[in-house]
Amino acid sequence: MASTNVAHLPLYLLLLSLLITTSSSAAEAEQPVHDLLLSFKASLHDPAGALASWSSSTPYCNWPHVTCTAAAAATNTSSATVSLSLQGLGLSGDINASALCRVPGLAGLSLASNAFNQTVPLQLSRCASLVSLNLSAGAFWGPLPEQLAALAGLTSLDLAGNDIEGTVPPGLAALRALQVLDLRGNRLSGVLHPALFRNLTSLHYLDLSGNQFLESPLPPQLGGMASLRWLFLQGSGFSGAIPDTFLGLEQLEALDLSSNSLTGPVPPGFGLKFQKLLSLDLSRNGFSGPFPNGVEKCLMLQRFEVQGNAFTGELPAGLWSLPDLQVIRAENNRFSGRLPELPAGASRLEQVQLDNNSFSGAIPQTIGLVRTMYRFSASLNELSGSLPDNLCDSPAMSIIDVSRNALSGPVPELRSCKSLVSLRLSSNGFTGAIPASLGDLPVLTYIDLSSNGLTGAIPAELQNLKLALLNVSYNRLSGPVPPQLVSGLPAVFLEGNPGLCGPGLPNNCDAPSREHQGLALAATVASFVTGAALLAIGAFAICRKFRGKKSSPWKLVLFHPIKITVEELFAAFHEKNVIGRGAFGKVYLIELEDGQRVAVKRLLSSGKLTFREVKNEMKVLAKIRHKNIAKITGFCYSEGEVSVIYEYFQKGSLQDMIYAPKFTLGWNDRLKVALGVAQGLAYLHHDYTPCVLHRDLKSSNVLLADDFEPRVAGFGIHRVVREKAYRSSLDSDLNHKCYIAPEQNFTKNPTNFMDVYSFGVILLELITGRPAEQPVAKDCSDIVSWVRRRINLIDGAAQILDPSISCTAQQGMQAALELAVRCTSVKPEQRPAMYEVVQLLRTL
Ligand SMILES: *[C@@H]1O[C@H](CO)[C@@H](O)[C@H](O)[C@H]1NC(C)=O
Ligand SMILES: *[C@@H]1O[C@H](CO)[C@@H](O)[C@H](O)[C@H]1NC(C)=O
Ligand SMILES: *[C@@H]1O[C@H](CO)[C@@H](O)[C@H](O)[C@H]1NC(C)=O
Ligand SMILES: *[C@@H]1O[C@H](CO)[C@@H](O)[C@H](O)[C@H]1NC(C)=O
Ligand SMILES: *[C@@H]1O[C@H](CO)[C@@H](O)[C@H](O)[C@H]1NC(C)=O
Ligand SMILES: *[C@@H]1O[C@H](CO)[C@@H](O)[C@H](O)[C@H]1NC(C)=O
Ligand SMILES: *[C@@H]1O[C@H](CO)[C@@H](O)[C@H](O)[C@H]1NC(C)=O
Repeated sequence: MASTNVAHLPLYLLLLSLLITTSSSAAEAEQPVHDLLLSFKASLHDPAGALASWSSSTPYCNWPHVTCTAAAAATNTSSATVSLSLQGLGLSGDINASALCRVPGLAGLSLASNAFNQTVPLQLSRCASLVSLNLSAGAFWGPLPEQLAALAGLTSLDLAGNDIEGTVPPGLAALRALQVLDLRGNRLSGVLHPALFRNLTSLHYLDLSGNQFLESPLPPQLGGMASLRWLFLQGSGFSGAIPDTFLGLEQLEALDLSSNSLTGPVPPGFGLKFQKLLSLDLSRNGFSGPFPNGVEKCLMLQRFEVQGNAFTGELPAGLWSLPDLQVIRAENNRFSGRLPELPAGASRLEQVQLDNNSFSGAIPQTIGLVRTMYRFSASLNELSGSLPDNLCDSPAMSIIDVSRNALSGPVPELRSCKSLVSLRLSSNGFTGAIPASLGDLPVLTYIDLSSNGLTGAIPAELQNLKLALLNVSYNRLSGPVPPQLVSGLPAVFLEGNPGLCGPGLPNNCDAPSREHQGLALAATVASFVTGAALLAIGAFAICRKFRGKKSSPWKLVLFHPIKITVEELFAAFHEKNVIGRGAFGKVYLIELEDGQRVAVKRLLSSGKLTFREVKNEMKVLAKIRHKNIAKITGFCYSEGEVSVIYEYFQKGSLQDMIYAPKFTLGWNDRLKVALGVAQGLAYLHHDYTPCVLHRDLKSSNVLLADDFEPRVAGFGIHRVVREKAYRSSLDSDLNHKCYIAPEQNFTKNPTNFMDVYSFGVILLELITGRPAEQPVAKDCSDIVSWVRRRINLIDGAAQILDPSISCTAQQGMQAALELAVRCTSVKPEQRPAMYEVVQLLRTL
């Protein structure tokens, strides 16, 4: 290499002198680009060494995080474009933008999710060829520089999630090619200048949400941006009315104006032209007047949210029968009128919330027939008539709240409510007895029947439930209170029922009233023999029942502030939310009120640990902080059952990727996943005290964040369920046998090396592109044996390495394969320790 350079030196000099005179040519750009990029790199602080391999000895197009347009780089440099994707690398430092902007054809620049802690560099305005600039969550502060308006070719500008202050400079209107403008979550203030939007006619995504210091009316010019598809203006201090011009935004798919100070009526005709609208959110403003007709023409609408305003009149009649509508939220308004029957077979409604309005008439019979319906709440209205007994013909129904209405009649038997978590019927005119069959509803947790006219006894069957709330106060109930309801429950409300008796209540059940005493004595003597026998059998049956299914209240402990209640948690334990099944139970994906998502692992047979024991163990696990370990957000406990709440990542799990029809991840990303998992495990094994073993490592427990940075989840479950339950669950889980080290069955005490084995299996999945479990044992059924059978063949490696990965990566893959084979050695002592694995992977 060196000698050829010397040989060509005169030619090079000649070329150079030519270039100086003729200025633009293919060769000119090629050489300095290295230097420019290296100057740029030199200006950065790169704690993780993500750019360490940038060096002039390799073509810059091959450097990590640099993309050149295919082939163009080699043949026609003047038309080649370069993009830098430097998001999420922990970078900081004083960006040398003047070097960067001299890179010819620099089209894409992402510095998102870093730690720059500086103002937006003015010099970026010299990057004349930029098409996409992403500085989101980069810890930038200070004003939004008007100079960026010089980037005439910019189609996407993302400054979301920084601390950008001051007004939005009207000069940005010069960015006529702009399609995406995301300024969400900053500290922008003042009024939006009308000129800003007059010229941005190509914009289809505009997000100004979460800028609470803006004090602006909605500029009517926004309505002229005819290509807008997504318009997010929530939580940003907008005031005044919706301009009529908004009616012309015919391409809108999502409109969110929630949590502002908007007022006035919604303009007539609103919705008539929104043929593509999927989501409309006007909630938490000061809108008034009736909601105009027109929204029923939004045939694709899925979410309709207008809660927390002062709307009056009826909801537009056609709304209820929109074919794709899933959510109606209209609570806390002054809507009135009757609720229509629904097109039950055709409706896809999941959630209807109408609380705190003035709706009247009966509850529609068809509510229970909508198969997707999981929440119906209409408390604090003027509804009358009886409660339909088919409310749970829909298998999903989880939350029913019709308290504070004028309903009457008996509480129906709700036998088919297998998913019902919460039943709130308080402050109505219900009469008759509490149906004993409520005790058979498997997940019923909240019961509020207070302030009705219910009579009879509290059914002993309610003791079967794991209740968090039972409120039966202010009824006309009588008789003994089932003992477990009083002892085990946090919030049993019994007051206002003079006929109830039992420990802690004014009446003692044992003291029969005087006038009946004589008679009772005679009867007792007469039937003594049979009576005693019956009593004994009855008592035995009850005791057995309680031993088998003892109730204990639910306790929710959160280590991070998320908005979830036990009630919502249970409502979400529904088949449609299942994203994974493992040895210990199912994993559910739950979307919270605020849009955040969490994954919940529901451990069904969690042994006999007390709340205190589980809490201590969970604390140990929740304190673990590492970028490759999924955070535990909290847990929910009841005797015999624990649910663990984890953070969730958009890209799902590694297993999802491997099982996808085509596993397309490139080698660099696969290596990143392997290294991340190894780092996470090394942290658990060697750095965290107390040392934590994972013991259930498998590709479905490797979650992937946006940039393929992995997060290991599902660790340490054995601490919460204890060894015996842990082992028996694992044994029953045939699907994940191939991740388990062979010595598991013979060893009493688990070791680090068992995790290393599981890691080796994951590494093999990444290398071969095949799932750990090989489909049908034509050859052999797990990946370790599959690899072992080939590795010593002459052409072995070629058969093993994933053919979809280009040959240039072969050397690295070969080395990774050797490592994976060591990790999956039959003898534990031959496996490397996790920190050693990390070191080896770093060299690849
Ligand atoms: C290089 O690309 C430019 C712009 O696309 C084009 O005008 C020019 O003809 C190309 N030159 C060669 C040698 O292909
Ligand atoms: C930025 O890079 C240029 C070009 O390589 C160099 O001349 C300049 O000194 C650098 N600026 C800073 C502040 O490092
Ligand atoms: C940002 O820089 C300032 C000094 O320039 C420093 O005081 C502050 O702590 C830094 N913030 C962060 C988050 O590093
Ligand atoms: C900017 O980068 C972040 C982080 O990689 C990404 O989530 C976001 O979608 C990007 N913005 C645009 C407009 O592509
Ligand atoms: C808007 O576009 C017109 C040309 O259509 C141009 O003259 C005007 O300067 C632009 N406005 C801004 C603020 O850039
Ligand atoms: C009912 O809604 C109004 C707003 O329309 C609100 O002020 C009031 O607090 C709500 N009442 C309850 C009990 O939530
Ligand atoms: C129970 O019901 C009564 C009467 O409706 C009410 O005053 C009380 O706040 C309720 N308690 C709970 C915890 O819901």
